[in-house]
Amino acid sequence: MRVAVANNKGGAGKTTVIAYLAEALAARGRRVLAIDMDPQANLSRRFGYGEAELVDMVTTAEVVAANTPGCAAQGIVGCRWSLPGNAELVERIDLLPARYDLEARVSEAGTLGAHERLERALNGVDEDYDIVLIDCPPALGHLTQLGLAAAESVLLVLRPEYDHLQGAIRVRDFIQTYRRHLGRPHLHVAGVIINEHDRRRGLHHWHTDSVTDTFGTLLWSPPVPSRAALAEAIDAAAPLHGRGAATRPLITVFAALADHLEAQAHAAA
Ligand SMILES: Nc1ncnc2c1ncn2[C@@H]1O[C@H](COP(=O)(O)OP(=O)(O)OP(=O)(O)O)[C@@H](O)[C@H]1O
Ligand SMILES: [Mg+2]
Repeated sequence: MRVAVANNKGGAGKTTVIAYLAEALAARGRRVLAIDMDPQANLSRRFGYGEAELVDMVTTAEVVAANTPGCAAQGIVGCRWSLPGNAELVERIDLLPARYDLEARVSEAGTLGAHERLERALNGVDEDYDIVLIDCPPALGHLTQLGLAAAESVLLVLRPEYDHLQGAIRVRDFIQTYRRHLGRPHLHVAGVIINEHDRRRGLHHWHTDSVTDTFGTLLWSPPVPSRAALAEAIDAAAPLHGRGAATRPLITVFAALADHLEAQAHAAA
């Protein structure tokens, strides 16, 4: 199942959720492909590919430009997390990286069939993966549309704050309005994840209720708590496993969220 992760609001935690959902799925033996459709290339960096290495690599920028069926295969690389004693977890995660000049592909928007270019590039390429996670930029423009047109469902990530909820609602409404134009008449929101939840803040309780009122049972539990240990792992481009007691509760949280994702994948199969 291909899942696009989106919010029309920056900094919600989309890339973070992809990295650690991938880890949770790989920890239970699933094979995961993560696709970076954001020119910021945050996911690529967090899986071990910095700007200097990306210069000579085949990335989503080349794959979308090439526009040939199955060409994504040329860009897929392994996750480069260092996890001594659990290398097989890391081996189950692959990446189609991005580079900053993915932004240049926006110039193709509006040309005939341009929104189908990622879908075409993935043709026959991702069948061996249990889950494909597509990281979208915080926008509803061409790059996100490429991700949506390649996806079967959408996962929304938001902080329990007003602007984040509005960004998530805009994605939901965009999908409902344009899914036929994207060639995906059945595209739908499969789940909603609250990230950076701080239970000491009344505002977060209040907005969690707003998210429930808006999305009902689509809201997955538990929320991802706001934790320094998580920000540190992201910063270090490291997995949550192997970082001691501080990340252990977070591993449990992402395992529970991976249960929701797998339930969706089974329902769709
Ligand atoms: N649960 C969390 N606890 C603490 N810090 C977090 C948490 N989730 C995310 N962050 C912080 O927020 C930053 C932004 O997260 P992330 O890059 O995943 O968001 P994003 O939605 O992908 O952003 P963009 O819209 O730019 O793509 C991270 O670099 C990290 O420092
Ligand atoms: Mg991101």
